[in-house]
Order: sequence, then structure tokens, then C-alpha cells
Amino acid sequence: MIYLIDHMVSERMRGVKGSPTVRLSGLVAELRARGENVISLAIGEPDFPTPAHIVEAAKKALDEGFTRYTPSRGIGELREAIAEKSQQENGIQCGPENVMVSPTKHALFAATLAFSGAGEDVLLPDPGWVSYLPMVQMANARPVPVPCVEEDGFQMTPEAVGERITPKARMIIVNTPNNPTGSVYDLESLKGIADLAEDHDLVIVTDEIYERILYGESHHSIASFPGAFERTVTINGFSKTYAMTGWRLGWAVAPGHLLDPMSTVQEHSITCATSFAQKGGVAALRGPEGPVEEMVRKFARRREVMVKGMNEIPGLSCQEPQGAFYAWVSYEDPIKSLDFSEMLLEKALVAVIPGGAFGDEGEGYIRLSFATSQDNVREALKRIREVLS
Ligand SMILES: Cc1ncc(COP(=O)(O)O)c(C=O)c1O
Repeated sequence: MIYLIDHMVSERMRGVKGSPTVRLSGLVAELRARGENVISLAIGEPDFPTPAHIVEAAKKALDEGFTRYTPSRGIGELREAIAEKSQQENGIQCGPENVMVSPTKHALFAATLAFSGAGEDVLLPDPGWVSYLPMVQMANARPVPVPCVEEDGFQMTPEAVGERITPKARMIIVNTPNNPTGSVYDLESLKGIADLAEDHDLVIVTDEIYERILYGESHHSIASFPGAFERTVTINGFSKTYAMTGWRLGWAVAPGHLLDPMSTVQEHSITCATSFAQKGGVAALRGPEGPVEEMVRKFARRREVMVKGMNEIPGLSCQEPQGAFYAWVSYEDPIKSLDFSEMLLEKALVAVIPGGAFGDEGEGYIRLSFATSQDNVREALKRIREVLS
């Protein structure tokens, strides 16, 4: 029997592409299984283990039988720890009633479903993290990419945002520090964006998951600006700061009128975040910060090696990322970033993400993660140099 596959797939899903980062990780695993010595600079996760005290807290929770559903918005002690952290570190006036614990990606999806839909526009950074645009498409809304160009430090300027706000605009996504460019938004840009959101009655969804991975710059949360909290959902998570990608744990902080519809999405989708992972989350926020600081110090050293090495290769150039753990590298060849990346994988056995995966403005760039050992970074640089010269 021949199935008409297209007919079976919802119209909404037909134009939505899978995640290039997830797909590339699969490809790298396949090549390695065939014995190829591939270096992957494609993945967006710290290569460190989750700190021991966090693991111990989750193990203890399992041993104590903490294995059932939790309240949908998360356990009280974690919501309190998140609220305290958000007040003290981010200057957001909030309490535990403003917190929903959720895998970070799911919190973003819940916000997109809650605040946008058919006939409505969502502004997002271009280049921007690979899942924002598909999330907007899955919500049936229209993505409106805002170009973030090198001359502006890869930030969405208030001017560029203002030019693209339509009467149908409902929501704007901000991401600082930014994946893929490593840009950390300055106070002025963020204030400009917050003012525009107020003027046009937009919900701001700000993804701050890389806030602790900084190289000298200061991080600012829009929700801390006077009056901005009422229209802002601040999203954050444990994956990057505490090397907890597999735990699937993060959170959203928002006023009740925004958190309630997001909670409804959560109640009818995943119900709650994993119970014992939440106990690990409490240990992460309440425990020693040494492991985080040590990890960021290591990222900083690798960043130096990566940026210097890239700029020494003829035809490649790269600004210093101010945050996160990615080098955003431009290349001179007039070919598509997908072809350039495939060439590097084939000839240098180095996996990188094509810039075009992050939006049209990403063409001419590749993204290289330095969340891998210095030896790997050096060997990858050597291989790329050999192939390009
Ligand atoms: C900018 C950004 N936001 C959100 C996420 C999702 O994080 P998590 O894997 O914890 O759901 C990622 C992961 O790569 C990211 O880079």
C-alpha cells in the first residue's frame, strides 16, 4: 500500500523544518560509528559533567521516592529559589507565584503558543536560535525576522525593530547573550526595544539562558526596567550554566496574566517538569558557585584560542563573542553556508553549523562551538587551515 504522506501531515507542519543542530549531531554520531575521527564543534552544550552536589540531590530524591507528578508550575522550593535568584541577580520584582518550572525549550514554546496565533506577527532576531522561527510557524503565526548585522554588533537595534512592527505584531523575542553570534545586548538597545513594546502593546519574550556565560560584559534583564515586567516573560534554564542539558529543566518568570495561559499549555502538554530533576535544580541555585565559575574560566581560555586561530586562517574572520560559547565566523567563499559546512565535514572532518540555519542573515557565516576541549579546538583549527589553504 502506498501512503500519501503529505496528506497525513497537518498543513501547519508541512513547511516546518527539523532542527539542524539535532540532525547534525545524528550525522556526526553516524560518521563516528563508521570509525571516522570527527571533531564536532556543532553542539550547543557544555562538555563538563553536572556538578556533583546537583547529581547527589537528584539521587537522594530518587532514593526517597520523589518520583511522582509535581504541581504543574513546579515544586515550591524551586520556585522560591528561582524567584530569589531573579530578584537578586536580575533585579526582577517577582515572587514564587510568578515562576513556572519547565524545560527551557518548552517554556519558549508555551509562550509562543500563548501569545501568538493565526494572523499575528512575531518579531525575532535574524540570525537567531534555530527553534524560534519553527515555534512561531507551529503556532500558526507569522515570523518577522529582524536583521542583526555585524556593524550593529549583531543586535536588534530599536530602529530595525521599529521598522518591522506591523499592526498585527503581538510578540517580540529577544535573546541575550545571543546564540549564535555571542552578542550581549547593551542597556540602550534593550531600553529602546522595551519602549517600542510598550508603544505597540507587544509581549516581550526574553531568552536569557546564557546569562552567566559572559566575558567581561554585563547582562541586563528587560523585566527589571520600570514598568516592563507587566509585559515580559523571562526565560532561563539550567542547561548551560550548570551543564544540565539532559535534565530538561528551566523556567519562565512572568506576571500572572502572562504566566496563566502558559501554565495552561503546560498542564495540557507535559504536565510538569521531571520531579527529581527539580530537586537537582534547587541544589544548583542554592549550592556553591565554584563549578560554574571554573567552567566559564575554561570557556574564556578556549574562546581566546578559537578567535585568534580563526582570524589567522586566510578567508575567515570572527569578532570576539561577548557571551555564550560560540564563534560566529564569516567566510569569503561565495558559496552557501550549508555547502561550506558540508565541505568542512567531508574534507576536514570538522562539524560546524551553517549560518543559514539561523536565518537569512546568517548566510556567509558558520557557527563553531568552543564547548569542547582546547585540544579539540586546536586540532579543528589545524584541519580547517589545511583544507582552506
Ligand atoms: C538560545 C537558546 N535558548 C534556549 C535553548 C534551549 O535550552 P534547553 O536545551 O535547556 O531546553 C537553547 C539550547 O541550545 C538555546 O541556545
